[in-house]
Order: sequence, then C-alpha cells, then structure tokens
Amino acid sequence: METKSLNKASNITSFYKTSLEERLRIVQEFSGLSDEEVQILKTGTLPIPSAQRMIENVVGILPVPVGIAVNFLLNDKDYLIPMAIEEPSVVAAASHAAKMARATGGFKTSSTEPIMIGQIQLVKCPSPRNAEKQILSAKKEILDKANQQDPTLVSMGGGAKDLRVKVLPSLTGTMVIAELLVDCRNAMGANVVNTMAETIAPILERLSQGQANLRIISNLADKRIARATTHISKDALGGEEVVDRIVHAYAFAAADPYRCATHNKGVMNGVTAVCLATGNDTRAIEAGAHAYAARSGHYSPLTTWHKDEKGDLYGFIEIPAAVGIIGGITSVHPTAKICLKILGVKTARELGEVMAAVGLAQNLAALRALAAEGIQKGHMSLHARNIAAMAGASSEMIDLVAARMVEERMVRLDRAKEIVGELSSKHRASTHKETHQSKKHPN
Ligand code: MEV
Repeated sequence: METKSLNKASNITSFYKTSLEERLRIVQEFSGLSDEEVQILKTGTLPIPSAQRMIENVVGILPVPVGIAVNFLLNDKDYLIPMAIEEPSVVAAASHAAKMARATGGFKTSSTEPIMIGQIQLVKCPSPRNAEKQILSAKKEILDKANQQDPTLVSMGGGAKDLRVKVLPSLTGTMVIAELLVDCRNAMGANVVNTMAETIAPILERLSQGQANLRIISNLADKRIARATTHISKDALGGEEVVDRIVHAYAFAAADPYRCATHNKGVMNGVTAVCLATGNDTRAIEAGAHAYAARSGHYSPLTTWHKDEKGDLYGFIEIPAAVGIIGGITSVHPTAKICLKILGVKTARELGEVMAAVGLAQNLAALRALAAEGIQKGHMSLHARNIAAMAGASSEMIDLVAARMVEERMVRLDRAKEIVGELSSKHRASTHKETHQSKKHPN
C-alpha cells in the first residue's frame, strides 16, 4: 500500500481563520487519518451500544467540541493537540503560547517510569511494627503473586516492582498501609493495580495478623511524573515589563492559596482538555494534580516562572500523569482513538509529557493575558456569540450582535436582545421598502 508522506509542521498560519473542512483536511494530512476517521471526528458520535457498555442507566450522550491547538514543538517534534473542552479561548490561548515558545525552541519534556501506587489498608494489627517487618520480609512472594495477575504486562517490562509499608497513626488507631508500586507501561493502570491490591490482601492479612480494609489505587501518582520546561524571549512577550508581571503573578500564586487554586485551574484547562480528548480519566488527573500541588503541606503552583539575566522568561511544570494510551475507553471511544492518532504519541509517557507542555503553555497564556490586557477581551468574543444565539439572533446576525456587544463592553443577554430587536426591525423595514419599491416599479 502506498504511504503518503505526511506534512509534519504544526505551525499552521491562521489555522483559526480556515473553514472547518480545511482544518479537517490539514489535520488529516498531518496525522494520516482515513476519510472515515475524518467523518467520525467531524460528527463526533458515540454509538448508544458503546455508551451502554461504558456506564449504567444511559439515556443519551453529551458531545463536547474538540479543537486543535497548533504550534506545539516538544523536543523538536511537532504536535497537533486535540483538546476537548467547552470553555472559549482555551484552545486559542494554548496555540498562542506555543507559538511564543516555538520561536525559542518550544518545550523540552521528560518523565519518570509509569509507576502507579496501590494501597492496602490493614487495621487491627496486634503489632504494627512487627506487621511491617513480616510484610517486607515476604516482599518477593507478594510481588510474584501480584505479577501472576497480568503476565502480559510483565512480558512488556511492566508489573509490580516494589512494595513499601508505612505505619500510620490515624483517628481510629494505628494502621499499617502496604503500598504496591506497579509499572503500568502504556495503560493508566487502575484496573491492574486494583486487581493486584485485592489479590495480595489475604497474604498481607496473614502476615500482619490484621484485617485488610481498603484495597485501591492512589490518585496521588507522585511516582508517575511528567515535566516540561520552556524559555520565552522577552520580545515575544512584549518586553521585560511583561516578564516581570508574569513573575509577580506566579509569586502571588505561590504565596496565596486563593490565587493558587485559579492559577492551577488555568494549568488544568489544558491538561484536562487533552485528557478528555484522549479518553482518559479527568477526575484522576485533577485529583492527582491538586494533591501533588499540596504535597509540601502548602498548596503550591504546578508551574514555576523565573526571569533570567537577559530578562527572558523560564517556565517549568511538573505534574502526575496517570494516563494511558491503551485500555479503558482510550481504545474504545471512536473520537478518543482518533485524537490519539492525531497526537501520534507512541507511549503513555509521551502523552503525559504532551499534557505537561500544554499545561505550561496554558498557564503562560493566562498569566500573560492577565498581566497585560486582562482575559475578558479574548474571552468575550466567543462568549458574546453564545449570548447572541441565546438572544435569538439568526445565524447571519450572530457576528454582528456579538461584535456590537464586545465593542460596547456589554456582553449581556438583555443587551443582546435589544440589538437583535433593533437589527430585526431594520431588516423588516428594508425588506418592506424593497417590496414596496418593486411593486411601484414592476419590470
Ligand atoms: C480561566 O478558565 C482560567 C484563568 O482564570 C486562569 C488564571 O487565572 O490563571 C484565566
């Protein structure tokens, strides 16, 4: 079969100005999607039988837009980034930040091995310290038992790699927590980790003489970390003053949890949108990110920003990346499969690194906008179109109504209704005049 050579540059000029059909054509050419995949992406359907296999009591589906962030360059490789999100400006902001970063080399990323932690809680141990000793001395037996649960994972270099134990004082007395460290390779790993945790629990009960209570994965995936750095020249940002303002914004988040929650929310706008587009568990990623941000006991920003001696900006992000490219719905949901193909990631680690870079870009775009013109200007134009539609504007009228509201800095439903009313009566008057004139001068 003839393989078409793919166009692999992600810095696509004025992508946002092109038509939907043209965008799909560009994405198809970049990622080698088949015509059928393009059609599935465009219509975004999830067959009801598939939906019914995913959750219970299904009554419908909720489609969310998928946008493509452009300009991303990671470790000298181009990526088009599919983002599933309902919030205006996020995709444009990520693309804009990636463009600034691209001029100075884009993003450098790295990650740890894909290790998830499974926790087994043991209560009522007669001697917690002795239980700890007994469990650790039987580590090999326990790891072997865990690994029997997934020979395929083991054959791929994954599986249970280590076991650690902590003695934990708690509200209900001292408990013993055994933690199984599992290399999940390209899966997110919740299923395999939970299965292993449940399987080894009886051995742990015997060794500790206690009672196994919870046996479940931890979403604080601090052994499965993705990192990204970027360097942005002060000129790309609009001068050193902007760099200083961004660093002040970061310092604000580092000092104040009220700001920090919003700072991290901005990071997660990007991370979670990629997570959702690829069919991964957004709640796991959010829980992991915020718990990781609080790991020192002080809730902190997921990113850091510094100015160098030349006045340029350096950014760094580190997030837990509990995501997979196989298993779960990543390999079942038609759109998720296509989004993974667009990304072209070969491993779950690579996907995590992409998410880290997108999170860093998203944060940069938000801080730059907040420190300069504010975010409402960018936010409002798309929002205004929604409000115009809600006010009953016809499709030809939507852009006009939205532009008027943005110009007046009054993006509100009541104002939209007034403008729609005005435009409609003008339209009626002009059609009336035309009809009148053509009746007067029939030809
Ligand atoms: C909005 O979704 C996200 C921002 O609030 C993030 C931030 O303030 O850094 C703009």
